[in-house]
Amino acid sequence: MSETFLPYCRPDLGPEEIDEVVETLRSGWLATGPRCKQFEERLREYVGASHAVAVSSCTAGMHLALAAAGIGPGDEVITTPLTFCSTVNVVIHRGATPVLADICLDDYNLDPAEVERRITPRTRALMPVHYGGQPCRMDELLEIARRHKLLVIEDAAHAVGARYRDRPVGSLGDVTVFSFYVTKNMTTGQGGMVTTEDGDLAAQVRLLSLHGMSHDAWRRYEALGSWYYEVTAPGFNFAMTDVQAALGLGQLSRLECFQELRARYAAEYHRLLGDLEDVILPSARPEVRHVWHLYPVRLRSERLTIGRAEFIEALRERGIGTSVHFIPIHYHPYYREGFGFRKGDYPRCEQVFEGLLSLPLYPLMSMDDVARVAEAVREIVGAHRR
Ligand SMILES: Cc1ncc(COP(=O)(O)O)c(C=O)c1O
Repeated sequence: MSETFLPYCRPDLGPEEIDEVVETLRSGWLATGPRCKQFEERLREYVGASHAVAVSSCTAGMHLALAAAGIGPGDEVITTPLTFCSTVNVVIHRGATPVLADICLDDYNLDPAEVERRITPRTRALMPVHYGGQPCRMDELLEIARRHKLLVIEDAAHAVGARYRDRPVGSLGDVTVFSFYVTKNMTTGQGGMVTTEDGDLAAQVRLLSLHGMSHDAWRRYEALGSWYYEVTAPGFNFAMTDVQAALGLGQLSRLECFQELRARYAAEYHRLLGDLEDVILPSARPEVRHVWHLYPVRLRSERLTIGRAEFIEALRERGIGTSVHFIPIHYHPYYREGFGFRKGDYPRCEQVFEGLLSLPLYPLMSMDDVARVAEAVREIVGAHRR
């Protein structure tokens, strides 16, 4: 490798986060507490929601949302095959059945017509995933949900800060769940947030996130807190900690700067690679604010003598890390064997996946890094044209 390795992603942690974390450590309050409250309030305001509950991960938040909504055995939940496994795992952990619907070819998000085709009398909820930071076609999905009386739980792991028809993700569907995992647009190491307009549902998510203990149990170690609490449901240990929230407060204060850089780098990739006919670049629909969590490109295998795996290896040899988002759900043995999904069931997802890989895109990169990646892509493609 001639140049330093450019990883697929790296979190940008500055003095804001470090100061917030140190202050929290000094405060002695490490578990769920006042920092979580502050972070909830700030994120709630940022996305324009009525309620926010900080949780230990997006996965935990989706699990809690399904549990709070009473979704369980006998119920079906429709989502996309082009997602991370946890979107589907939480449905399975509830004893419900995941149902997959194919995606659109322009944004790789759920196709509302395909969703409608998969609805049965057992369908209870839709779980749209805002793939790569681009909001789904929410008007259509919400209209289908209203007509069939379904709950909409958005997996917004990629989409903090995104907007749909000028409305922030987090205040569109019934429940939205964000991820602050280390690769995401803002991070708390691990962490997530559930937002909703429904106060009862928020209260239930909060209760279940803290073992099912009555709502202010986290205050029980304070001077004015009470030792007494009641368990009203079999809950989970899924709440966020104050150390995570401290990181989140610092990151949230810088999020708009991060988004600006992401948008600039995405535009630069477009400019530098836009004329390449062998690669399909991602695009943003006009009615959305795309937050470019990912920059997924697709190799056109019919024009190239190199496959995706060799392409990834060739980039690695040039010191460039990549990733693949995602191996479709129905390609994994567990879901195939457990739910009867088969290759061939979701042709558009399969077509997109064939040459799919994500190029590095994150605020700690420089414009020179973007140029270096684009140059490497051009070189490899140029050397392997049919
Ligand atoms: C689409 C999607 N949903 C859910 C998750 C899970 O998020 P978390 O790691 O916060 O549980 C991820 C990735 O981490 C993801 O990419």
